[in-house]
Amino acid sequence: MTNWKQKVIVITGASAGIGEGTALHFAKFGAKLFLTGRNSDNLQKTKDQCVQLGLPDENIGSVVGDITDKTVQSKILSGALEKYGKIDVLVNNAGMVHYLKTGDTSDEEYDEMFDTNVKAQFMLTKAAMEYIKQTKGNIVFVSSICGGRPMGELPVYCMSKAAIDMFTQCLALELAPFGVRVNSVNPGTIVSKIARRGERGYHSDEDYQKFLVAQAAKHPLGRVGVPEDVASAISFLASDEASFISGQILYVDGARHCISAGVTTSVK
Ligand SMILES: NC(=O)c1ccc[n+]([C@@H]2O[C@H](COP(=O)([O-])OP(=O)(O)OC[C@H]3O[C@@H](n4cnc5c(N)ncnc54)[C@H](OP(=O)(O)O)[C@@H]3O)[C@@H](O)[C@H]2O)c1
Repeated sequence: MTNWKQKVIVITGASAGIGEGTALHFAKFGAKLFLTGRNSDNLQKTKDQCVQLGLPDENIGSVVGDITDKTVQSKILSGALEKYGKIDVLVNNAGMVHYLKTGDTSDEEYDEMFDTNVKAQFMLTKAAMEYIKQTKGNIVFVSSICGGRPMGELPVYCMSKAAIDMFTQCLALELAPFGVRVNSVNPGTIVSKIARRGERGYHSDEDYQKFLVAQAAKHPLGRVGVPEDVASAISFLASDEASFISGQILYVDGARHCISAGVTTSVK
């Protein structure tokens, strides 16, 4: 069994959704957490919930800031290293989407998706991997079903997640000689804030509930996921129980990726 109490876990995007759920999941194991996100109030809420679950205050470090900012990336790593002296697991979770077809996507919207979902994850990983080699730790990316399944309504997001799937596999090969594993989880629709943000987001509860009902019907298991569904897959991949698993793209999507061509998401 993994001795989580000795493990340092860095989680990006821990102020909402899947990242928040992942922090709470690891808090129950007593791990040493280093959390990051942009919204300081929400990041504090995640930290408070971790404490309520019994995690000592001293087991939670954090940095607030935009993950696309190099200075913030450096602060995340130096903060974790100063606090705990090592990094065992990096969960590259922070991400965003614009629900835009090709013809509607501006340069800025394209850049925002690639800067957040790809470049920031690449650069943070590049800077972290020397430390993860020292612990023979591992890296888990939060990609998406969109990485391997085309969706006509959100091409740039799909492209960004496909890039992460390829990076996961390339990096698994690059870091295998050092005993470092690299995997990704690829969720289907998960209840979180992601679809509620931005101009085209589902802002009212009623609209969001309708979206979730429509999405549930697209997942063969007949429901959408919750952050805990993804968190438990992340913790498995990060655990010693997965010691021979690397370069894996693990769908957490109620079998949605098994559906044959012709399926698209229903978005506005
Ligand atoms: N929910 C789904 O249906 C779904 C499905 C497949 C894949 N995913 C992936 O899962 C990951 C988490 O998404 P989620 O659904 O949990 O979304 P969410 O509820 O919107 O949470 C996103 C998290 O990422 C952070 N974040 C976004 N952009 C950031 C930036 N530029 N700098 C720093 N932090 C940033 C947010 O921070 P603040 O809130 O503090 O700004 C928040 O903590 C993403 O990579 C997403 O693509 C989600």
